[in-house]
Amino acid sequence: MRLKLNLSQVDTERYNITDNYDKALGIMAELREDKEDFTGWVNCPMELNDEFLGELEAAAEDIRSKCDLLIVIGIGGSYLGTAAMLEAIGGSKEGCPEVIYAGNNMSGTYLSGITAEMDKHETCLCVVSKSGNTMESKIAFSVLKEKLYAKYGDAAAERIVAITDPEKGSLREEVNEKGYKAFEIPGNIGGRYSAYTPGIMFPLAVGGVDIRAMVQGARDVATGDDFWKNEGINYALTRNALLESGKCIEVFEYYEPSMHLIGEWCKQLFGESEGKEGKGLFPASLTLTTDLHSMGQYLQEGQRTFFETVINILNPDGDVIIPESAGGTYAGKSLNDINQMAIQGVIKAHSNADVPIVQIEVENADEYCFGQLFYFLMMTAAVTGKLMGIDPFNQPGVEDYKAEIRKLLGQ
Ligand code: PA5
Repeated sequence: MRLKLNLSQVDTERYNITDNYDKALGIMAELREDKEDFTGWVNCPMELNDEFLGELEAAAEDIRSKCDLLIVIGIGGSYLGTAAMLEAIGGSKEGCPEVIYAGNNMSGTYLSGITAEMDKHETCLCVVSKSGNTMESKIAFSVLKEKLYAKYGDAAAERIVAITDPEKGSLREEVNEKGYKAFEIPGNIGGRYSAYTPGIMFPLAVGGVDIRAMVQGARDVATGDDFWKNEGINYALTRNALLESGKCIEVFEYYEPSMHLIGEWCKQLFGESEGKEGKGLFPASLTLTTDLHSMGQYLQEGQRTFFETVINILNPDGDVIIPESAGGTYAGKSLNDINQMAIQGVIKAHSNADVPIVQIEVENADEYCFGQLFYFLMMTAAVTGKLMGIDPFNQPGVEDYKAEIRKLLGQ
């Protein structure tokens, strides 16, 4: 396992962390049976075969040969996994198209900026929508598609890849009509649990990401029974126990700015999975040490209603040695070593101020390790949600604001 859960800064006895140990393992065993709606993600990494991964890679190679810019159109679970993984490993690999994102907001300024990029680049589109009916992605796809056809004529159709439900939704209908290259998001996998479906893995493959390593990471963590029995399950137990003790906010923290979108992905996974029936931890995220200069005061002395989850990359890719001119304290040291000291110093200070601190240690910033991390976090969200007594796979609350917007649009 290249992922480790460290609970040394959580008082596990005070918070009765192990109380629900058997229950949590039982929940996990049931999830693995995949008998419920929307649990297809649990065994998905193990079920992906070589032939299918080869098909994804071949289609990615075809798109790569046509463009230097891929625009991924999608929102929530239909783009965050792609964006998070790519950012965390340092972006598209050499010689692969740059990947940018549209359809994840309603800003005209933003979308006009994206259309301007299409003038400068050989472009392909990858539209990802499980339902095929989501407002933001539907609008962005229509705008960008018009532009693509204006630029390439009928050949534009060969520059579009659509990833959607196998049967339902207006995007599936359009695929059937226009014959775009298409992949499926299985019906029994919801957006925020779709990391190992083509919705995330296809655009990643276009960016040159080693999707086989990502899947292998997920497989190894998913089937690591010893890991789950000994430490893996404890993150779900800790989150649930801390919520029961009155901590209602979980602050995800990382010390590599390239982890920012992993934080956004965590917020979506946990917020949308748990926030229902008046329950759930409120997920927040901070990039440190940057945000210590804005939120450090609150973390140290504000209300004790939160706990911190530090996702620590142990061996980041780049480093610098600090020159003499920085002065005696810093000179000659590796900046990454100082960053690790900052992590330990901040953990000590916050721990002294009665903040429980979970540490998730990730060995490297690579596809395999993030493949492990995504799966670990998805299983944690599902098990914690069940311990909290809610359905972690639905999102009934997101319909209300959509209905209000539709009313304003006169629909
Ligand atoms: O996790 C979820 O289910 C959501 O965040 C969806 O991914 C998001 O709303 C986008 O939906 P769709 O893929 O249907 O466009």
